[in-house]
Amino acid sequence: MNKILTPWSAACCFYILLGCNGSQQTNLDQKSSDTMNTSTNRGITLTQQTFGKYDQQDVTSYVLMNEKGMEVRIMNYGGTITNIFTKDSSGKTGDVVLGFDTFDGYLNKDNPYFGCLVGRYANRIAKGQFSLDGKTYKLAKNNNGNSLHGGLKGFDKVLWSATAVGDTSLQLKYTSKDEEEGYPGNLQVEILYTLTPNNELRIDYKATTDKATPVNLTNHAYFNLSAGADSTILGHQLLLDADRYTEVDKNLIPTGQLPAVKGTSMDFNSPRAIGMDIMKVAGGYDHNWVLNKKGLELKLAATLYHPGTGRYMEAYTTTPGIQFYSGNFLNGNLTGKGGQKYVQHAGMCLETQHFPDSPNQPSFPNTILKPGETYTQTTVYKFSTK
Ligand code: GAL
Repeated sequence: MNKILTPWSAACCFYILLGCNGSQQTNLDQKSSDTMNTSTNRGITLTQQTFGKYDQQDVTSYVLMNEKGMEVRIMNYGGTITNIFTKDSSGKTGDVVLGFDTFDGYLNKDNPYFGCLVGRYANRIAKGQFSLDGKTYKLAKNNNGNSLHGGLKGFDKVLWSATAVGDTSLQLKYTSKDEEEGYPGNLQVEILYTLTPNNELRIDYKATTDKATPVNLTNHAYFNLSAGADSTILGHQLLLDADRYTEVDKNLIPTGQLPAVKGTSMDFNSPRAIGMDIMKVAGGYDHNWVLNKKGLELKLAATLYHPGTGRYMEAYTTTPGIQFYSGNFLNGNLTGKGGQKYVQHAGMCLETQHFPDSPNQPSFPNTILKPGETYTQTTVYKFSTK
């Protein structure tokens, strides 16, 4: 695990460049009720509204807006991105992520991780167990005998404490206690969501621990760049800068093999319509691609284009992998924003991450965080049109 705080430090420099004063932190949780604390910084504003109640506490929606009209809403329950409004090539604004109009929707037991933060370990850990320093740890199992996305109550189902950093960023903190969902160590997690004047949503993740533990954090936004115009993402064109992927078994557990994508249905090295070959992939796309990169540098990993609206998104990340999930388990049972029925492939995730089941796969990049080290991850989703 890298000990250098590179992405986090870079984020801090970034705020300084934007003219933010990191020492002027405001605890937004101490304020209550509707739309208040409006302030501006280089054209970015951060406001807040009450969104619901969870565990007798207020759930707050934080709204970041820039001068170009991009708007991102994040709530402190699950650190969930509930909305991303961007313009299409004709200047019309639309919401490009799936979700619900009201907070209650997010509590639905079938909510498939819409927009949330995922941890302590994103993706699957086989048989819900791993061994570390001679001890076997048993995790909460919630997916065919495996542990998925942190277990029964992962980071997506907790209230995070929120603080404004300048006016461009929202910092979320959560302490995951020793033995929570079976994981060792008290893990201090900090997430920084930043909106930039260039239509970038930047997510900086940071974690420290007091016992060695696996850590793999990501965000689970479901994108549909048509903003409701197309019921599925099958017409979107995707590029993934990856020559290999982690092969999985029928329960989506890695086999340890990293097959080459060249010339197969998994080859997205040039932009290609997602629907073109999806029928050839059993169950649809739900795989981790091994990104072409040298180390943990922030690098373009994926691009996504919706020809009908001209919306274009680039995903940059420091992580070694990206899970492209084509919304295969959506089945029309969920009614989301504006009464939309979320049918199969209604949205897709680009989850920047370490490889699934790394704690049980010695050949995969290390995911064990030790005391004294700092886990970092940075991902940037940049929106434009073409
Ligand atoms: C994805 C995962 C899928 C599915 C989904 C939630 O991250 O790859 O297999 O579990 O989350 O429905």
